[in-house]
Amino acid sequence: MCGIVGYIGTQQAVPLLLEGLGRLEHRGYDSAGVAVLGPGKEGRLRVAKRSGRVRDLAEQLPKRFAGKVGVGHTRWATHGPANDVNAHPHTDAGGAVAVVHNGIIDNAAALRAELAGAGVELVSDTDTEVLAHLIGRSDAETLEAKVAEALARIEGTYGLAVLHSAHPDRIVVARNGSPLIIGIGDHEMFVASDLAALVRYTTRVAHLDDGELATVTTAGFTTYRQDLSQVARIATDLEVDASAYDAGEHESFMRKEMLEQPEAAERVLRGRLDERFGTSHLGGLDMEARELRAIRRVKVLGCGSAYYVGQMGAGLVEELARIPADAEAASEFRYRNPIIEPDTLYVAVSQSGETIDTLLAVQEIRRKGGRVVGLVNVVGSAIARECDGGIYLHAGPEVAVASTKALTTMYLAFALLALQLGRVRDLSIADGRRLVAGLQRLPEQLGEVLALEPVLAELAAGLAEAESLFFVGRVRGYPVAREGAQKFKEISYRHAEAYQTSELKHGPLALIDASVPTVAIVPDDELTDRNVGALHEIAARGGPLVVLTHDAVDLGDLPAQGQVHRVDLPRNERELDPIVITIALQLLAYHAALALGHDIDKPRNLAKSVTVE
Ligand code: G6P
Repeated sequence: MCGIVGYIGTQQAVPLLLEGLGRLEHRGYDSAGVAVLGPGKEGRLRVAKRSGRVRDLAEQLPKRFAGKVGVGHTRWATHGPANDVNAHPHTDAGGAVAVVHNGIIDNAAALRAELAGAGVELVSDTDTEVLAHLIGRSDAETLEAKVAEALARIEGTYGLAVLHSAHPDRIVVARNGSPLIIGIGDHEMFVASDLAALVRYTTRVAHLDDGELATVTTAGFTTYRQDLSQVARIATDLEVDASAYDAGEHESFMRKEMLEQPEAAERVLRGRLDERFGTSHLGGLDMEARELRAIRRVKVLGCGSAYYVGQMGAGLVEELARIPADAEAASEFRYRNPIIEPDTLYVAVSQSGETIDTLLAVQEIRRKGGRVVGLVNVVGSAIARECDGGIYLHAGPEVAVASTKALTTMYLAFALLALQLGRVRDLSIADGRRLVAGLQRLPEQLGEVLALEPVLAELAAGLAEAESLFFVGRVRGYPVAREGAQKFKEISYRHAEAYQTSELKHGPLALIDASVPTVAIVPDDELTDRNVGALHEIAARGGPLVVLTHDAVDLGDLPAQGQVHRVDLPRNERELDPIVITIALQLLAYHAALALGHDIDKPRNLAKSVTVE
């Protein structure tokens, strides 16, 4: 999604801005631009922007694009197509103001009409341009007051950074619903929408809260509320390893992050398993056994892969704790006036902690008195701050759009939660211990699946040739199939559809022939026989099969080689097998996309975190 960077200090801004924008590339965007204030008291404002990659912008930049104050942006089109004019920064009519903005201005149409009525010529199709004009036309004296005045007219969300040629000693930033971070250096300051853009220069940061503005100068920063009364924001030192934001020797972030899964799994489990009592310790939940026992229902909310893993997690909660549980796309949930119950535990799942639909769902639940816990990766993110408690995932920074290690840690966080909910209810100590032991084995087993990469890569190259595929599973395996299909389609651009294996006969079998392969999830569990039966139905219609299974499973008399491939995966406890199988599906998707020559970390039209509705 859109990215913001800004710099003010003693160095030339442009190289730093371009570097920062490059670090945001993986989040997804379609155009990029920079604005700098040239030297001098009334610095000249210069803007360069264009559709395409950051490197296209860099190539086009005039050599002398000097200035030690600047802002940059990567855009993901919402209002108007991706073209040079719609790219940010946007300027006012006099060319004194430059604005970069993330988010959506809901009343942009009305404001555009009003400005046009006042004789302003709007050059772009964007909502952001109105902000530049409103700031430029303000009579207020200070830049802060001009920005606050403009923001008072705006309905919607924003993270933004503003330059003004009459105020060349500062960048003014503001936040409402879109992340904005200030990075503190030595006689230089950074602003960014994402840590990734500034972590190479500083790990000392301050986060703005919604409704706040800040003035950033070479000497430091000051934060205000929208009425310009000051608020204190304390900078914190982050313990982050800048190398986590580099792909290193790996050809893509997705591959690097897939390979990091055993370590990420260890981190999310560390210190949280109790072998003696067969349960888990989750300090961040902040709930006593009495409160846990009072929960009558669990509702999981997330978007994209976080929603699919939420469905796996709801299954775990039902199975281990025997509490009715289900998952719903956060975006749908909050628009259907959901019934918020006091004895329901709401669980918000998000890697970034910034996904707008999940965030707004959390706010809606809390407004109506519901209790929400978050399974969130990014510490201090909006969703993490908004929840009543939660489980941090400790997956480390995830850069690739397709979620892998964060998803795995989400699943394990659900297992920990389900275990704890189970153990204060019906789950026996023996079962609790069995699952604790299973979780302890998991990191190593994830490594064993990763070691199957060559086999899966070969199968993936075959699957990549099909225009359309099915991914099927039952009960625990169904959300696994959904996540598998999601991964496959988002990076290979092939049509991949998930179905319950049991539902095949009710429609999809009509499509099965030699050109439509099926990836089937057939674990060694209570449904194996039924699943195997469905495989025979597919094979009888000439459908090619890739079967992800366990060595104990007898597939019966299926057609010969070429048509049916089985991959035997490591076996854990049946409740925990879904995550082991998910890793194999990641590798299938990855290698299909690789075989098709796609840009794996930047799938077309997609963004890492969706901060607009
Ligand atoms: C986007 C990404 C997905 C991700 C989803 C939720 O759609 O492309 O990979 O699963 O957002 O993101 P979150 O940060 O809330 O987990």
